[in-house]
Amino acid sequence: MQTISTTQTIRPAKNLHGSFRVPGDKSISHRYAMLAGLAKGTSRLYNFSTGADPHSTLGCMVTLGAKVNTQSDGTIEVTGVGGAFERPVGQLDCGNSGSTMRMLSGLIASHPHVFTLIGDESLSRRPMERIRKPLSQMGARIDLTEGHAPVTIFGTPLKAIDFATPIPSAQVKTAILFAGLQAEGVTSISESVRTRDHSEHALRAFGAELNRTADKITIAGGQTLTGIDVAVPGDISSAAFFLCAALLFPDSNLVFDGLGMNPTRAALLDVLTGIGLKVKVLNLEEKHGEMVGTIQVNRVQDGLKGADISGALTAQLIDELPVIAAIAPYTQEGIRIRDAQELRVKESDRIALVAKNLKAMGAEFEEFEDGLHIPGNQKLHGARIETGHDHRIAMAFSVAALRAEGETIIQNAEVASVSFPEFYTLLDTLAER
Ligand code: S3P
Repeated sequence: MQTISTTQTIRPAKNLHGSFRVPGDKSISHRYAMLAGLAKGTSRLYNFSTGADPHSTLGCMVTLGAKVNTQSDGTIEVTGVGGAFERPVGQLDCGNSGSTMRMLSGLIASHPHVFTLIGDESLSRRPMERIRKPLSQMGARIDLTEGHAPVTIFGTPLKAIDFATPIPSAQVKTAILFAGLQAEGVTSISESVRTRDHSEHALRAFGAELNRTADKITIAGGQTLTGIDVAVPGDISSAAFFLCAALLFPDSNLVFDGLGMNPTRAALLDVLTGIGLKVKVLNLEEKHGEMVGTIQVNRVQDGLKGADISGALTAQLIDELPVIAAIAPYTQEGIRIRDAQELRVKESDRIALVAKNLKAMGAEFEEFEDGLHIPGNQKLHGARIETGHDHRIAMAFSVAALRAEGETIIQNAEVASVSFPEFYTLLDTLAER
């Protein structure tokens, strides 16, 4: 499919206010779609992500024999294969989505077919050895092309393993959990840093049992799943763009309704509070293990402090680092990000692209192999932003543009639709000019 390249012009804003609901969480949508596809019976997934990535996962579920219907209100109805995926007619197209390729590999590896997973140019550059290794230890045969996609999986019965994840990755953890669910024996996974735990909650919601201690998760094989009706909480990583934008205006006032507040994703709120965001939780409830709430945010009246992000915190904020870096010049103390080498193997080399675009907007900074140091008290000017076809770079610099002098042009702006198709329209509605 050919995408038409579009640009977006972002004008500076005077303030930001409004009340809204961000679309369903991308990470949770992937997991619900995959487990609903494997389960017995029909699931109804409300507030499913509108992003292209989770729709790639739905497309793969159809190729594997699940039935997927989209209702007029956006609800996705998935009738699963009852534990046995069909032999795929054609390749499993994961599009731009690393989550689809990695997590799906674990979900299908025990099914008796040959699967070929492909992706776009960006996904075909991303490392896949990290899932090949544990899944091979479980008995799967997986062929990669120099460590990358296409991924060919020769499905076979799997056996349980004890695995310690060398790099913190929820996608790798999930691939092993999904494989472990269908393997012989009890699989255990130890994490040095606790990554997002949506898979653990989703598995329980679909009827599986698993145990978790401080740093270890165990799951017994041979468990079956049953379809459910479930609503996807709003995506805090999409909200992050507006939370950071709210920091840029002394009189900003935003209310986010139905927002996912899972503690393994909410480190963002702590960091932004440290910089100068005031967060009021108006309500909070638990649904299928996920915390969902309404929050109101404003900015402190005096200047914005800075932040020092390294170690475990980096893994917990991995998707939000580009936008935090993009607003760093507007803080007083600047922002230092280290231990973030994983950013170099995301949809783009996010350290290099953040650096390039900060430079284009006139900022000074220091770049490291594993991060950036961006001093505060800097003024930015409008520029042409190179997105590298990366959704989070396009949105991060749209936020930086709100306080820059002059207009900013976001090239290949359409890429935002990978996770957040409504982004520019919402920004226009909330920004006062
Ligand atoms: C995700 C995990 C993270 C994140 C990605 C979504 C997930 O990737 O960057 O956008 O849904 O599990 P890693 O597992 O590679 O850290």
